[in-house]
Amino acid sequence: MVIWFYAFAASIVPVTSTATIDVDNIPRTPDAFVEAGEIIFNGKGKCITCHTLDTSAPPGRCPDLTDIAVRAATRQPGMTAKEYFIESTYEPHKFLVPGYGNIMPPVWKPPISLSELEIETVIAFLQSQGGEVDLTPFEPPVDIGSAESLVEELPPILTGDVERGQRVFVEGAKCIACHTVAGVEQPAGQTLDEGVEVVTAPDLTEIAALNSLRYIEESILVPNAQIVSGYGSITVKTGGATIQGTLVTQDNEKIVVRVKDAAGNEEERTILLSELDPEPIEELTDLKGKGYFWIQVTLADTGATVSGDLVEEDDENITLQVGEETQTVSKSNVKVQATLIDFDENVIVGELVSENEDEITLNVDGEEQIIDTFDIDEGPTYSRAFGKRLAVTSPMPNNFPLLLSVSDMSDLLAFLATLTGATDATVAEGEALDAGTEETAE
Ligand SMILES: *[C@@H]1O[C@H](CO)[C@@H](O)[C@H](O)[C@H]1NC(C)=O
Repeated sequence: MVIWFYAFAASIVPVTSTATIDVDNIPRTPDAFVEAGEIIFNGKGKCITCHTLDTSAPPGRCPDLTDIAVRAATRQPGMTAKEYFIESTYEPHKFLVPGYGNIMPPVWKPPISLSELEIETVIAFLQSQGGEVDLTPFEPPVDIGSAESLVEELPPILTGDVERGQRVFVEGAKCIACHTVAGVEQPAGQTLDEGVEVVTAPDLTEIAALNSLRYIEESILVPNAQIVSGYGSITVKTGGATIQGTLVTQDNEKIVVRVKDAAGNEEERTILLSELDPEPIEELTDLKGKGYFWIQVTLADTGATVSGDLVEEDDENITLQVGEETQTVSKSNVKVQATLIDFDENVIVGELVSENEDEITLNVDGEEQIIDTFDIDEGPTYSRAFGKRLAVTSPMPNNFPLLLSVSDMSDLLAFLATLTGATDATVAEGEALDAGTEETAE
């Protein structure tokens, strides 16, 4: 039952509306702008494909926007709701809601290509979701008319063969085992390579209408670069137990992970971030990149323990949110803990006092202990801090660069470039499926 639900949810293609509006001919009033913005939100802007406006809807790929104007004012310190909306439509990569990947395309770029005025109406519509509509003109942060801003987005030159690309999609790379595309069917009895598991993956019916080909190409070659929310794999430890599954949602307090039990049934588990087990950290580098969000260190000079949410990090310092205050700790001022296991399987943890080829001196609970290196079975491993992290990876195999030839890749991209959802909206579902079956059976 639960499995069926997810299979079903994954196959829903949010319906974008075909209604259009010419914003150049509407009066500059809140009502007219909100109304036009809603049409663009559901239509040309394609916002509704990823975002939801209904808190009871299954989570979309992007955050639910119910009452977004209330939350927008608090998303980033010093930024008003309108400033936040301007940034998130023009430069969506600048601030990401925790748990959501960098997948929103700037709506002014192709393929969506909203005009400045159209974006203003969408902003008015978003403001109307729980806030005041303010039509004060503003200077867009990006000059969308300039050639430079478009040049970088020019798609790779498509020389591929679309039909061959579809065969790569269905039979060669077997993308169809996990991704759905309206009108394309998985061949009966298709088997996957060893080690590849069927997982719920994003629907690709409209992928080319939503994302640039560069993004699509990157998603195939480097699946971990951007992970669509709700589709990432995660491994966390809590209470000594390791939980592995798909990260469904995440906020500042908890995560929801979809796990499979031994019988293969899926269930969702809610885990409080505060209940994750801190793991030893060997190197204090790129902590955020490794997914750490909470850090504990012991200061070398005072012996004090400092812990809190990770705010900032550079080569020299780590800044933690400790209660109401932030505290900056120098990476060179942290005590190093060593963990080693001797041949009797005793685990010894202490602060490193000194070490040489023959022996290691640790301070264990205030007493120095000298351990002969000949007695060590495992380790020592050094930890400079303890941390809690959420490391989300893509469940998509990462060997496509090896698996696909250059021509496979170019054909596959040519096929994916045709997935704009446009044809399927005009063809009845039955016909689309028939067409797909014929093509794949040839
Ligand atoms: C680290 O913090 C110290 C003290 O707060 C500061 O003087 C130093 O400039 C910081 N280093 C970097 C790279 O910001």
